[in-house]
Amino acid sequence: TRKLRISEALLGSELGANVKVQGWVRSVRPQKTNLFFHVNDGSCLQSLQIVAGSDLDELLTFGSAVEVTGILKKSPHQKQPVELEAEQIHIIGECNPVDFPFKIKERHSLEYIRQFPHLRCRTNAFSSLLRIRSEATTAIHSYFKKNGFVQIHTPIITSNDCEGAGELFQVEPSGPDYDENENFFSVPAFLSVSGQLHLEVMSGAFSGVYTFGPTFRAENSQSRRHLAEFYMVEAEVSFTQSIEDLTKVMEDMFRSSTEHVLAHCAEDVNLFHKHVTPGHRVSLKDNNLTWAVDILNRSSQEFAFPTDWGCDLQTEHEKYLVKHCGNIPVFVTDYPYDLKPFYARDNQDSPEHTAAAVDLLVPGVGELCGGSLREERLDLLRARAGLEDTYSWYLDLRRFGSVPHGGFGLGFERYLQCILGVDNIKDVIPFPRFSHSCLL
Ligand code: 4AD
Ligand code: MG
Repeated sequence: TRKLRISEALLGSELGANVKVQGWVRSVRPQKTNLFFHVNDGSCLQSLQIVAGSDLDELLTFGSAVEVTGILKKSPHQKQPVELEAEQIHIIGECNPVDFPFKIKERHSLEYIRQFPHLRCRTNAFSSLLRIRSEATTAIHSYFKKNGFVQIHTPIITSNDCEGAGELFQVEPSGPDYDENENFFSVPAFLSVSGQLHLEVMSGAFSGVYTFGPTFRAENSQSRRHLAEFYMVEAEVSFTQSIEDLTKVMEDMFRSSTEHVLAHCAEDVNLFHKHVTPGHRVSLKDNNLTWAVDILNRSSQEFAFPTDWGCDLQTEHEKYLVKHCGNIPVFVTDYPYDLKPFYARDNQDSPEHTAAAVDLLVPGVGELCGGSLREERLDLLRARAGLEDTYSWYLDLRRFGSVPHGGFGLGFERYLQCILGVDNIKDVIPFPRFSHSCLL
């Protein structure tokens, strides 16, 4: 007897074979002489139909764990290629249908299943999401591998505040043996808000680097697009002098990953299929913020936040711009210099004082990526207050073989929201963390 995953059994290449499958019951349908039920093991969206004798339906409840041995047969039904004629059914773990929060044949909303973070992977919707998330991770790594980027494990604990936005979680040990007056690292240490500065270190020796890991922000927001712990894909490209070099990488990565996901997870993606447009056209129009602000000011829509030059774009503005451009991804470039962190490159010859920064805005989400050219000119960097003390190592990078470089960060959860049309960011991460919530 060969043990098969459900996805393997469903391929139909093992007809007539004696096999064993293990999984969880997804549906039960008693008929006069036979009992039909479906088993799923997370390997794919589809479940395997099992044909059994009719005496088991008391224990075979939605959610119970089973092991079935039998013969794989061609199914008479169009919907499934094969079914398993059971010879032996072993109930490994019972599941009380009264207490179990998910009911057979009911369609539960993402909002409902979110209340059960420890159980929601047992629904079709969330297990599909997790398979897509896993495949999208592979897609992103393979994009960078194909394009010759080196993956860097940037640290999670760091003493720098890359974005300077005051959203840091501080790290200190706790426990009976620890003296609270002592400072473990001798300097304040934080959970990383971005791996960018560490990637910039590496961009002094590698022409292309990237990192893909968790980042942390003490963002006191209950919004549908903010988490306190989220995954970020960050790339840094050396010898690059124009924003277009960066937007090209962003566009390529977006397109290539999305195509990969659609090709490898078609069935799962279909479950979410609301406004997925396979070849998502990322507009390469050079849209700068002055232009964007013009559009906002000309619109008849009332905005809660000001739209003057010098004000940052808010979610409402981002969503409006995306819609205005025909509901496609849009780049906005050249932000007011004063809005951007210390590392952003000064567009010195711009009439309004701008920085060479770019955001990618996408339908349904707003800001998906933020990036910039980095200030590589030592004298200009020095002029920025306080750097000499706290970031002398960063200035060193400009002393020894400095090259023009730039990079960006993509919020991985927002990417999933965008390609799947999921409204709430909490529904695209296995265990969401946000203010006043750290379950499990
Ligand atoms: O725009 P951000 O803050 O850019 C940076 O951190 C740069 N240092 C990245 C770089 O150039 N290497 O963040 C990048 C992206 C945002 O566009 C957004 O998609 C996502 O990270 N993001 C969040 N996603 C979920 N929850 C939050 N609280 C997020 N904050 C940012
Ligand atoms: Mg940003």
